[in-house]
Amino acid sequence: MIARLRPLRPYLARYKKRFVLGFAALVVTQAIGAMIPLVIKAGVDAISHHAGGEKLLIVGAVLVGAALVKAVFQFWMRWILIGISRDVEYDLRNDLFRHLEQLSPAYYTSTRTGDLMSKLTNDLNAVRNLVGPGIMYSANTVVVGLATIGLMLGLDWRLTLIVIAPLPLGSIVVRVFGRKIYERFEKIQAMYSELTERVRENLAGVKIVRAFCQEEAEEAEFDRMNKEFVEKNQRLIWITSFLWPALALLFALAFMLLMLVGGRHVLAGRITLGAFAAFNVYLMYLIWPIIALGWVTNLVERGLASLGRLMGIFDARPDIDDRDVPEHPIEAIRGEIEFRNLSFSYPPAQSSDGKPILKNINLHIPAGKTVAIVGATGSGKSSLASLVPRLYDAPPGTLFVDGVPVREIPLRTLRSHIGFVPQETFLFSQTVAENIKFGATDATAVEVERAAEIAHILPDVREFPKGFETMVGERGLTLSGGQKQRAAIARAVLRDPRILILDDAL
Ligand SMILES: Nc1ncnc2c1ncn2[C@@H]1O[C@H](COP(=O)(O)OP(=O)(O)O)[C@@H](O)[C@H]1O
Ligand SMILES: [Mg+2]
Repeated sequence: MIARLRPLRPYLARYKKRFVLGFAALVVTQAIGAMIPLVIKAGVDAISHHAGGEKLLIVGAVLVGAALVKAVFQFWMRWILIGISRDVEYDLRNDLFRHLEQLSPAYYTSTRTGDLMSKLTNDLNAVRNLVGPGIMYSANTVVVGLATIGLMLGLDWRLTLIVIAPLPLGSIVVRVFGRKIYERFEKIQAMYSELTERVRENLAGVKIVRAFCQEEAEEAEFDRMNKEFVEKNQRLIWITSFLWPALALLFALAFMLLMLVGGRHVLAGRITLGAFAAFNVYLMYLIWPIIALGWVTNLVERGLASLGRLMGIFDARPDIDDRDVPEHPIEAIRGEIEFRNLSFSYPPAQSSDGKPILKNINLHIPAGKTVAIVGATGSGKSSLASLVPRLYDAPPGTLFVDGVPVREIPLRTLRSHIGFVPQETFLFSQTVAENIKFGATDATAVEVERAAEIAHILPDVREFPKGFETMVGERGLTLSGGQKQRAAIARAVLRDPRILILDDAL
């Protein structure tokens, strides 16, 4: 298990000092907590010796004082230990996003976006639960368990052993049920994402559904899925409804043993009434650690599985990078492109058979020249275009820019000199200006306007309600297909590129 936790080490090490503080608060909290039954014992013994009210007053004051101090440290314990888990979550999420930003487009054609999203939400959450409650309650259980049982043994070891005998069963019950609950919960989650995906598709594809009169069929299918979802949830309620009463019964058994055996000890004068009272309180103290033991093991298991899945994302290496760039690479690009006997096929995982999409292409485009490539749908025009900015990698020695093998040009240099308008444009839910400035954030308003003019979208933008500040996308203005493409062209020309690639753009 320790080995599986290793990926978390660098993340946890950053917060070593706070961990120490948090654990210190935990120990103080539980030490005070463990003392409280002894105070109760003193109180009860005082009563049975018919002591004066003054002594009871002191006992009461000590109880309140102890509870107050305990409350303060308990607050710090949670605040620190659970707080760390949020910081770790923050670090991990940033690292994951940074990594995803590095991976090449090929990775995303072989990985389902939905899976990635669920890893970034559910799995990250499970890891946070492992780092926060998982660690805190593990430590808590150990400290409370040892302290409580230790003090109970000190009071009467035989009684202790009898009374706590049924308790491990509680941990087992929680663990077994917890696992079942988790399995069902996973199924419910999966069902839920199917359901939401169905809704999403119906909303996005509303025109198709209406045009083909598929409303009733869609409603029937939705009803079926919705029913299944509810039934799965109801099966989960069945288990959870069973768990708590089962635990309550188990603890009733322990308290019964305490009453029968402990009561006899009191009558025989082996222990005081106060000790008997203290035993009752200690037994109550044990309820939570016993439950936590079963619960935490599930939490940790789940967290470890999720951690493994997240680390799987980090295992995917960016396959297009600067590894072949020499020590002193070129810094500027004039824009000459040459394909030399290029054959290209997509990575085998994504193409059905790995057979070449492009075969023996020889093409020389001098800097500043315009070339149009015409061909049937699916003949490989977009594929050829995507090789130049290295969205996919051409085989070594087949693609040269300014006479330099393209892999020897730093990606940043190469791409910052290329204006690329893909066949399917993508605009972000931002303003028109922000969309055009994408990749050239320090461009001035005049430059943006000039780019819009070149792309023939300036008159359209002037008619938008807020001009360049109009929001685009679902929460803003819907652009026509042509307007979107022109915005994308403006984006490409704004950077004044040496190479301009227009894939099916007007
Ligand atoms: N990302 C990809 N992964 C695998 N195969 C692809 C990918 N993109 C395109 N293809 C395949 O490459 C071939 C050429 O596609 P494409 O270059 O888009 O053609 P065109 O732009 O000329 O219509 C098609 O058979 C298509 O199935
Ligand atoms: Mg195409």
